[in-house]
Amino acid sequence: MRQIAIFASGSGSNFQALVDAVQGGTLKANIRLLVCDQPGAFVIQRAQSAGIPVFAFRAKDYEDKQAFEREILHQLELEGVDFIVLAGYMRLVGHTLLESFGGRIVNIHPSLLPAFPGKDAIGQALEAGVKITGVTVHYVDAGMDTGEIIEQEIVRISTGETRDSLQEKIQHVEHYLYRTTLNHLFLTTGY
Ligand code: GAR
Repeated sequence: MRQIAIFASGSGSNFQALVDAVQGGTLKANIRLLVCDQPGAFVIQRAQSAGIPVFAFRAKDYEDKQAFEREILHQLELEGVDFIVLAGYMRLVGHTLLESFGGRIVNIHPSLLPAFPGKDAIGQALEAGVKITGVTVHYVDAGMDTGEIIEQEIVRISTGETRDSLQEKIQHVEHYLYRTTLNHLFLTTGY
C-alpha cells in the first residue's frame, strides 16, 4: 500500500475528495501527512477533522526553498511517506524534494496542459475564449506544469459560462480523475 503525503495551499476540495476515497475504499493508499504552506488555509481544518497529521509552514520563516524542503523531507521520512500528491500546492517543487522523490511526485492542474500553465488556468482559458479546456494529471519536474502527462479529461466551455460555473465543472472532474488516475498508477507501476 502506498504511503502518500498530500501538499495543498488552499481550500482543499481535492484533498477532501482523496480523503473520502481512501475512507470509502476506492483509493488504495494511506494518507500519512498534509503539507501546507499557508497556515491559515481551510485544508488544515479538513485534515484535522479527518485525523491526518499536518505539517504547516511559512516559506518566509526559512532562509530559502532548500531549507524548508529539507524540513519537509524530514517530516515525510518521519511519516514513512513514499509518494507525493500535489493538490492545489501553489509553489514550484525544488531540487531537494525532486532529488529524493523524482518520479514519485504528481500534480493536478485545471487545464489541458501544455495550454494555460501556472496560476489561474481557469481564468486564462476564459480569457482566451477557447471552447474546450479540461484537467491534467502529470508528473512533477523542475518546470512550471511541464512534467510528463499521465491523464487528461476534457471539459467543454458553454456559451455564457462564468468563472464559477467553469470552476465547478472542472473541480467535479478533478475529484474523480485524481482518484482513478492514482489508483491506476499505483496498480500498474507498483507505487
Ligand atoms: C485545483 O483546481 C487544482 O487543479 C489547482 O488548484 C485548485 C485547488 O483547489 N491547481 C493548480 O492550479 C496548480 N497549478 P482545491 O484547494 O479546492 O483542491
